[in-house]
Amino acid sequence: MCGIIGYIGKANAVDIILSGLKKLEYRGYDSAGIAVIVDRKVHIRRSVGKLCNLYLNFRERPISANIGIGHTRWATHGKPSEENAHPHTDYTKSIVIVHNGIIENYAKLRDELQNNGHEFKSETDTEVVAHLIKEHYKNNLLYAVQKTLIKIEGSYAFGIICKEEPDKIICARQDAPLIIGVGKDENFIASDVAALLPHTRDMIFLENGDIAEVTVDKIIVKDVKNNMRSVKIKSVECDAVQSEKSGYKHFMLKEIFEQPSTIENTLNGRIYPNEGRVFIEEVKIKEEYIKKDISNICVVACGTAYYAGLVSKILFEEFAKIPTEVDIASEFRYREPILNEKTLVIVISQSGETADTLAALRLAKNKGCQTLAICNVIESSISRESVHVIYTCCGPEIGVASTKTFTGQLTALYILALDWAFKRGKLTKESLKIYLKELEGIPLKIRLFLEDVKPIKIVAKMLAHKKIFLYLGRYLNYPIALEGALKLKEISYIHAEGYAAGEMKHGPIALIDASVPVVVVAVAGRVYKKIISNIEEARARGGVIIAVASDSNEEIKNKSDYVIYVPKTSEFISPIMTIIPLQLLAYYISVFLGCDVDQPRNLAKSVTVE
Ligand code: F6R
Repeated sequence: MCGIIGYIGKANAVDIILSGLKKLEYRGYDSAGIAVIVDRKVHIRRSVGKLCNLYLNFRERPISANIGIGHTRWATHGKPSEENAHPHTDYTKSIVIVHNGIIENYAKLRDELQNNGHEFKSETDTEVVAHLIKEHYKNNLLYAVQKTLIKIEGSYAFGIICKEEPDKIICARQDAPLIIGVGKDENFIASDVAALLPHTRDMIFLENGDIAEVTVDKIIVKDVKNNMRSVKIKSVECDAVQSEKSGYKHFMLKEIFEQPSTIENTLNGRIYPNEGRVFIEEVKIKEEYIKKDISNICVVACGTAYYAGLVSKILFEEFAKIPTEVDIASEFRYREPILNEKTLVIVISQSGETADTLAALRLAKNKGCQTLAICNVIESSISRESVHVIYTCCGPEIGVASTKTFTGQLTALYILALDWAFKRGKLTKESLKIYLKELEGIPLKIRLFLEDVKPIKIVAKMLAHKKIFLYLGRYLNYPIALEGALKLKEISYIHAEGYAAGEMKHGPIALIDASVPVVVVAVAGRVYKKIISNIEEARARGGVIIAVASDSNEEIKNKSDYVIYVPKTSEFISPIMTIIPLQLLAYYISVFLGCDVDQPRNLAKSVTVE
């Protein structure tokens, strides 16, 4: 979590850092700060709360500088406060540092430093690093950082400046993303591409163990032992406009409405329904492996991406007949999963930086498994470390609650499952054509649905004051119930739980009374009749039923308090459709409650700490 940025050049570092922090705010937003050096004097400004407070600070007392570093924080060690906000310094205010990550041995280092007379001002793990660098500093910042890095354990992306050497930024990376933006007579560092795009497309993606010295016109990358490391400058294709709200009130709403296009983008060039063919250029897994060698699939992810994984279990097993298990990355990495070279481990991650998912990927590689990542962020750690990658072509997702990348992940998983089902002889060409046509048609159906979202606004307004929501689904739509509940709780802070509808009578039904809305995904298909019985059971206990049903289902009107109709689809593809009203329901409830939709409390977009 946390976002870091740095600038050195002829422009005003403060302006560049502030606008970069705005782009990085999704990574954490409980406090922010900037340090600059002017005439060999360090100036640090920090403020608690959203970035606007820091903006205000600089508007009231402007400052101009040609070198600086900035940080937007998601607290790990120490509460959100001005003292704990970055940048941090050593006690002489000579070394200044911003950090994304966690220093695991900070307590021991802190004790040692305190015994040597160092006084600490914050509760953070980061401050220890500033003091340690100072201990090693002998007029060579790079050397002092190299010596310090040998002593610290944990994950980090650092940006470091020093009052005695105001012509350089030192940065280093270990298990946290860090990119250098290469400019003309100016250079940048940042946690992600979006913060650099307004300035340059030429970027160096640092690897673990890299330490870079960045001056106005030179970038040198070394390791802790002072060996040179080879680096490549890559030109990044990405549309900076995608990171704007484009007239929508919130990024989340914009991203929900983008889904017809983002699904199209993820399908584009990969499916050929008329020929009954799937072609995923990036995935070079041998057909032989998919046909014969593979013994099982293990899908590993966190949060929303995990729920996409749950849908894929049904697809891989039912269509491709490959035994599939799905696990939460933070669990997977600490149990002893049975893995071997016949296991394909699929990791799913929007950001490509989720610490637990990355660790799961590494574990799988160590065990000799084939690995495939489904990822949205190009050049992220997961996409670079996985042997195969399928990108969900959704563009930047800024709203903290995932929406378009969830349907992007589902889309990618559908294509894979269908392709492998065909290759394994479990699906005929004719059936493949039908399914691919269904997939191709889904963006249009979502587009039609999004033309009138009034019914959802009405339900949201009626129910926004409720304290508990239940979400029910079965079969392919059980994960959608889980995801719908997650959307509501994360952006409205209402307690919401998703259940497999058939499980209700084994306990959770006790929760239902007249005050509890029960959102039921009840689209046409093989479990429709079963879910109707579950609706009856919930109604009998007084629950307020909100059904998500297929267009022109009249029967359901008599069984529900509210019906949200979605265009008819086959049951197979329905999760990509049914999640849309649930995203919107959560969104409008959050808006009615006056919550911060795009930056909900306690969360961050990219969870780079475990
Ligand atoms: C919820 C949400 C999170 C993420 C999870 C994994 O809306 O966004 O649950 O899905 O933190 O993140 P990625 O996909 O970046 O690995």
